Amino acid sequence: MTLPDAPVGIFDSGVGGLSVLRHIQAQLPHEHLLYLADTGFAPYGDKPESIVVERVLAIGDFLLAQGAKALVVACNTATVAAVRELRAVHPGLPIVGVEPGLKPAAALTRTGKVGVLATERTLRGAKFLQLRDQVHLDSGAEFLLQPCVGLADQIEFGELDSTATSAMLERFIMPLLTQGADTLVLGCTHYPLVRSSIERLLKNAGRPDVALVDTGDAVARQLARLLAAGGLLRAPGASGKFPASLTGYTSASATALTAAFRSLLGIDPPVHEAQIAVPRDWQNVE
Ligand code: DGL
Repeated sequence: MTLPDAPVGIFDSGVGGLSVLRHIQAQLPHEHLLYLADTGFAPYGDKPESIVVERVLAIGDFLLAQGAKALVVACNTATVAAVRELRAVHPGLPIVGVEPGLKPAAALTRTGKVGVLATERTLRGAKFLQLRDQVHLDSGAEFLLQPCVGLADQIEFGELDSTATSAMLERFIMPLLTQGADTLVLGCTHYPLVRSSIERLLKNAGRPDVALVDTGDAVARQLARLLAAGGLLRAPGASGKFPASLTGYTSASATALTAAFRSLLGIDPPVHEAQIAVPRDWQNVE
């Protein structure tokens, strides 16, 4: 296999990265893709940073062992905690991370107040806080940080539209609107999967004007740029018949990821269960 024919490895703590995968499939339809859902170790949002770093490095090794030519960290929490270490361990490998879209949000807001919905771990990460301070300095926008404890879990359980998820969204979002936010950053890749529930909440609250910012599209564009710059883009065949494959991996049950592919993306790729060593003593680390 030539290098451009090798797959791109994409991963998240669970199904959230599928909100990024759909943009990659749309923009790079000729690329072979591997998607790893680390469901057996989810969520990342409440785990110590050092443990998330160790886990991300192990997943990087796993995807490279499957032949990946590039990696997409389709998880804000993992990016904030570990993308620097991942790049240090694999210099020269194209690696794309996901960061909450503070810059596009600052360009959109008219009230100067932006709500940021993300995991606790993302909002406490040094990389995120630096980004917030820089964008605040450049634009004057104020960022209201809202940790959404439990929301990624609800989405993992397939509770996209349940009463409990709606109540959670209301509890997290309404105070941001009361404080003047007119723009909300979806700072976790799970959250675009409940975008329609968020839009319904905003409509019912008489605030359909509130803008939602998701960076999945920008991540796919950045991946396309990096692959092109490295001469790694897979070319379409002259016949136009050059099907690209998608293979799923999960650290939990294959049945659950198969069901998620079906219900969230309407596709049926092969799914394998992957053995990835759990970080040593992770329960004892503060
Ligand atoms: N999807 C992940 C993110 O973008 C977070 C979910 C988790 O806590 O594992 O941050």
